[in-house]
Amino acid sequence: MKNIVILISGAGSNMAAIVQAAQRQDWAGRHGARVAAVISNRPDAAGLQTAAQAGIATAVVDHKSFATREAFDAALMQAIDAHAPALVALAGFMRVLTPGFVARYAGRIVNIHPSLLPAFPGLHTHQRAIDAGCKLAGATVHRVTAELDHGPILAQAAVPVLPGDTADTLAARVLTQEHLIYPRAIAGLLAGQSTER
Ligand code: GAR
Repeated sequence: MKNIVILISGAGSNMAAIVQAAQRQDWAGRHGARVAAVISNRPDAAGLQTAAQAGIATAVVDHKSFATREAFDAALMQAIDAHAPALVALAGFMRVLTPGFVARYAGRIVNIHPSLLPAFPGLHTHQRAIDAGCKLAGATVHRVTAELDHGPILAQAAVPVLPGDTADTLAARVLTQEHLIYPRAIAGLLAGQSTER
C-alpha cells in the first residue's frame, strides 16, 4: 500500500477533501493508496479531530517544543517516516521547511498554495491579489522544492475577484476550488498521470 501522509496546521479542510476523495474514489482499490496519517505542528489544529473521526492515525509535533527549525524538522521527519510515505501532502501546513527536509522527500512531496503561482508566494495572498487589482485569483498545487512556494505546477484553478471582495470572501471562493484540484492532482500522481510540463 502506498501511504500518504498529510501535514496540517489548522482547519484541515483540504486534508478532509483528500480523505473524502480517497474514500469515494476508492484510491485503495484503484491506486493501492491510502491516507495513512495526519500530522500537525499545532496541538489545537481542528483538522486533527476530523482525521481521527475518519479513522486516520494522527500525531502532533509541536514546533514550539524545539529550539531550532532543524530540530523541529528532524522530529517531524521521524513522525512522517514512521508511515513510510510514498507521498507527503502539505495541506495548510504553515511552517517553512529546511532544505534537509525538502531533500528527504524530493519527488514525493506536494503543496497547495492559495494563489496563482508564481504570483504571490508567501503569506496574505488574497489581500495582496485584491490590493494589486487582480481580476482573477486562485490556487496552485505544486511539487515542493527548496524555494518557498515554487516548484513544478501540477494543477491550478482560477476564480474571479469580485467588486467588494475582502480577503475572507475571496479566500472562501478560492478554498472551494482547492478542495477540487488538490485531490484531483494527487489522484493524477497516484495514477502516474501528472500533467506537469
Ligand atoms: C488553504 O487555503 C491553503 O491553500 C493555505 O492555507 C489554507 C488551509 O486551509 N495554505 C497556505 O497558505 C500555505 N502557504 P485548510 O486547513 O482548511 O486546508
